[in-house]
Amino acid sequence: MAAYPKWLRHLQDHSYCWLVTGVAGFIGSNLLEALLKHNQKVVGLDNFSTGYLRNLEQIRDLVGEKAWGNFSFIEGDICQLETCTNACQGVDFVLHQAALGSVPRSIQDPIRTNEANISGFLNMLVASRDAQVRRFIYAASSSTYGDHPDLPKVEAVIGRPLSPYAVTKYVNELYAEVFARCYGLDSIGLRYFNVFGPRQDPNGAYAAVIPQWVSALIRNQTLYINGDGETSRDFCYIDNVVQANLLAALSDNTGAVNQIYNVAVNERTSLNQLYGMMRELLLEKFPELENHRPTYVDFRKGDVRHSQADITKATQLLGFEPSHRIGEGLRQAMGWYIAHLGAMQEAAGV
Ligand SMILES: NC(=O)c1ccc[n+]([C@@H]2O[C@H](COP(=O)([O-])OP(=O)(O)OC[C@H]3O[C@@H](n4cnc5c(N)ncnc54)[C@H](O)[C@@H]3O)[C@@H](O)[C@H]2O)c1
Repeated sequence: MAAYPKWLRHLQDHSYCWLVTGVAGFIGSNLLEALLKHNQKVVGLDNFSTGYLRNLEQIRDLVGEKAWGNFSFIEGDICQLETCTNACQGVDFVLHQAALGSVPRSIQDPIRTNEANISGFLNMLVASRDAQVRRFIYAASSSTYGDHPDLPKVEAVIGRPLSPYAVTKYVNELYAEVFARCYGLDSIGLRYFNVFGPRQDPNGAYAAVIPQWVSALIRNQTLYINGDGETSRDFCYIDNVVQANLLAALSDNTGAVNQIYNVAVNERTSLNQLYGMMRELLLEKFPELENHRPTYVDFRKGDVRHSQADITKATQLLGFEPSHRIGEGLRQAMGWYIAHLGAMQEAAGV
């Protein structure tokens, strides 16, 4: 049997306690949904700096009151060690997602990014070590490949970082490795590549490209492409990321632990192609998009030109098999945005 269905079946008869940091954010709330749907106990920690209460309310509606009873929420900041220590009590697996994302945000405000992404990360490592959790799984990033030109990206070969954000995510990997060596804390770092899906925030200066563009297209507004549109990414649907986290936590392959993995699809899509796919998917419901065209603006500072993951390592050591390629993921995400965007924009006063 493939690894993921096997471990999902395992969860039916084994109830663990999971700590999801950044639980009110995009990826954290999707992890929460999957875990509660598989009858797991979840502690969530978030300070709502970029996450939303509405994401948690949506999970409550999706999983129902019974499963919701297995969730306890701590509103707090990972920059406080005591908060991390409390959150880790009795926890089997930590899925550490809390961080300040976005390359441009880190260029604008490197100090806040450093506090959350490095000091906060270190607090979480110390708290996880002291609570003797079984495994610490954390969100690393494809930005760690920096200026290295090789494609596809293999885990062992990285370049120089291109932004403060990339530095913080690389430091996470170094700290996790040292905590394994010095204290025996088992960890796995997941280098996510441009994740997208339901509950990813379309609003604000630091919104990711897909939700930002859905929002512009649905309202037939100007949509900006940075550079010539030939910049490319390995866009990864959220279900693949949820799968990678659960496999990383549960894998019984001892050789798979204390490693870093790419989490993506091994597919390269340019921004121009992405625009075409998204417009095509929305045309039926929004025929006015027939004449919509993007506006090209300057390249963004700190951006990597091309990105594509080699996922052989995750496939071989964790049994990772992406369930969604970009087209399937976009179709699902579009449906969700069409249903929810209005309410999200009203809440944001857009
Ligand atoms: N989305 C992507 O494409 C992508 C790619 C690579 C890596 N990542 C990493 O994945 C993780 C999750 O990203 P996301 O896209 O869900 O972002 P997000 O902004 O939606 O979620 C992050 C969550 O962490 C919380 N948070 C931030 N700082 C905190 C703090 N100091 N204390 C407690 N909570 C805090 C926020 O309120 C938010 O709910 C991050 O570590 C990010 O760097 C994301």
